[in-house]
Amino acid sequence: MHRSHHNESTESGSHLLVFAGAGVSAESGLGTFRGPGGLWEEFRPEELATPEAFARDPGRVWRWYAERFSRMREALPNAAHLEIARWQGLFASVVVVTQNIDRLHQRAGSRDVLELHGDLWTARCNRCRREIDMPSAIDLVPGGGPPKCACGGLLRPGVVWFGESLPELVFARAVAEARRAEILVAVGTSATVYPAAGLIELAAANGAQVIEVNREPTPLSRLAHRVLREPAGEALPRLTAELLAYGAE
Ligand code: OAD
Repeated sequence: MHRSHHNESTESGSHLLVFAGAGVSAESGLGTFRGPGGLWEEFRPEELATPEAFARDPGRVWRWYAERFSRMREALPNAAHLEIARWQGLFASVVVVTQNIDRLHQRAGSRDVLELHGDLWTARCNRCRREIDMPSAIDLVPGGGPPKCACGGLLRPGVVWFGESLPELVFARAVAEARRAEILVAVGTSATVYPAAGLIELAAANGAQVIEVNREPTPLSRLAHRVLREPAGEALPRLTAELLAYGAE
């Protein structure tokens, strides 16, 4: 009898860059910012996601993030996160550049994740910058907050707010990876928030094949070589064979 070999173990030499947004976590039950039912339909970003908002009403901003955090920690990686993690064995390099703060890529097994907008699993003092993990921070003032730091400052979520700079080294590495990527898969992002979204244009300008996975058209769609208008959890597992074929060309 002849055993057939599943030839998906055929590796591709391509450098793959995944550029992720809130839509990749939608099927894990986490809300997106824009679009129907999006968080920014209920709140304006400047009401909550700015340093000014935190200075004006720290309790309100803290509670909003603490509530989002409690949903994030209950959430599980979905088929999209898992498929992306699986790509690591199939390509020369796989770097995940994410705008998300939920750590679901890491929990799915992705090892090289660049978090452009920080991380909600960490809180840090707005004065001395000391860091503490979010579950411990929340436990300091159950249901309230923000907790006070020993230095007298206030703990704030470890995320990047509008008007703040992206973490410098993380962004520099993302730029370098965008330049050398041969394939860029943009998943579940409206591609409207800069400088993050500029990485897609940079990769395209440097010759990357751009693939968009999104339920809706975005400003990126016109630039994409291939568009999959489906939920990420359905589209990505089917995309794998296509990516391997592309890399083998
Ligand atoms: P957005 O909420 O702007 O966009 C989410 C995108 O995901 C939309 O284009 C949806 O069409 C798409 N989408 C929804 N469900 C999907 C699914 N199941 N499969 C595939 N696509 C789906 O989120 P981001 O682009 O991540 O920044 O937003 C960028 C930044 O804006 C965020 O990092 C955040 C926000 O304000 C800060 O807070 C600094």
